[in-house]
Amino acid sequence: MKLTLSRRTERLTSSLIRDILQITQRPGVISFAGGLPAEELMPSLNFAECATESRQYGPSEGETTLRELIARGLSTLGLASTAEHVLVTSGSQQGIDLVGKLFIDEGTPVLLESPTYLAALQCFRVYGSEFYGLPLYSNGIDPDELKAAIVCHRPAFVYLIPSFQNPSGCCYSDEVRRAVAAVLDETETPLVEDDPYRDLVYAPCERTPVCAYLERAPWVYLGSFSKITAPGLRVGYLASSPALFPWFVRLKQSSDLHTSRIGQNWLARFIASDTFEHHLAHMNHVYAERRNTMQAALQLRFEGIAEWRAPAGGLFFWLRLTRDIDTLALLKTALNHDVAFMPGEPFFPVPDLRYPSLRLNFSHATPEKIDRGIAMLSDVLSECIEQATLNPRIRVG
Ligand SMILES: Cc1ncc(COP(=O)(O)O)c(C=O)c1O
Repeated sequence: MKLTLSRRTERLTSSLIRDILQITQRPGVISFAGGLPAEELMPSLNFAECATESRQYGPSEGETTLRELIARGLSTLGLASTAEHVLVTSGSQQGIDLVGKLFIDEGTPVLLESPTYLAALQCFRVYGSEFYGLPLYSNGIDPDELKAAIVCHRPAFVYLIPSFQNPSGCCYSDEVRRAVAAVLDETETPLVEDDPYRDLVYAPCERTPVCAYLERAPWVYLGSFSKITAPGLRVGYLASSPALFPWFVRLKQSSDLHTSRIGQNWLARFIASDTFEHHLAHMNHVYAERRNTMQAALQLRFEGIAEWRAPAGGLFFWLRLTRDIDTLALLKTALNHDVAFMPGEPFFPVPDLRYPSLRLNFSHATPEKIDRGIAMLSDVLSECIEQATLNPRIRVG
């Protein structure tokens, strides 16, 4: 049967992460691939108390109590946002999708960090965007390069993840945050700031949202409860400048009417309880330990093969390989040895800024598995380099 589908489907790519995640479910595989929180740290979900009130259809904007709690949290970050400008979404991924629907037509220019979040690329691509990449440095993007790119490409918006970026772990300095906001204000370019990792923090780090420094430019701020509670709940949120907000509500209505009320009501209770701060502190303590374990293992095994910085927060190490290795082929070999990682290449919006790299998640595996998995991965990598040296037809830098 011949199906006649939309042109959009031609731009639909399958998510490499999802494909890899399927393989890593295999028993015995040590996976550093997905951005998965540790199950043993997730709060237990008891919906008994909120089930009755959650049965009926609810408002598209979200549950009032949760929106108020979110708005209060945003105010403490310097984001002048009221509950009326907070929309609860089905994960922050839905916020990304609504941004795509609102701003992107075929050929619409979008400016993003290079590398950046794979599923944002996937989503914006479906709507037909044209990507332009901004290189990431240790303190964030370069505000002068941002200005030049805006002047040259006139993007519909700039998509940034300034705190504990996925995949690089980069956290913008305060100076860069302010300078980026000044450029966006001057050029009146909308900012989409994606901030799902801000509460996972292991070392002092500036985390004021760039949106909080904006005075004129339109903005969208995306938050998530996935990484700090349970991603299966699928609850995130979007706050925006007032002129954009009614558009998002209408788009949300036409997407799924509203986010599950059970999850929202459970979250509102959990966030308001005394347990929440303890839970967050414990999660950060355990993840800091796992980060330190991975850092020590990498220092032992990856010196000279890769360059990296221990991230101050978030869930990932980003390794820039010192030799030109095909990391997709490396992944296949690694999976045969029961260890998984995310190849870096798909995270780059444009090929010219690409370099050989790996993303390693440290939140999901236990410290013992981290030690073992990094040793296995370094063996696979050394073997691959050795074979490439023996066989010069395989490309090695
Ligand atoms: C940068 C970034 N944005 C958004 C998301 C989506 O998260 P959620 O579970 O809230 O949809 C992720 C998940 O990994 C992410 O890394």
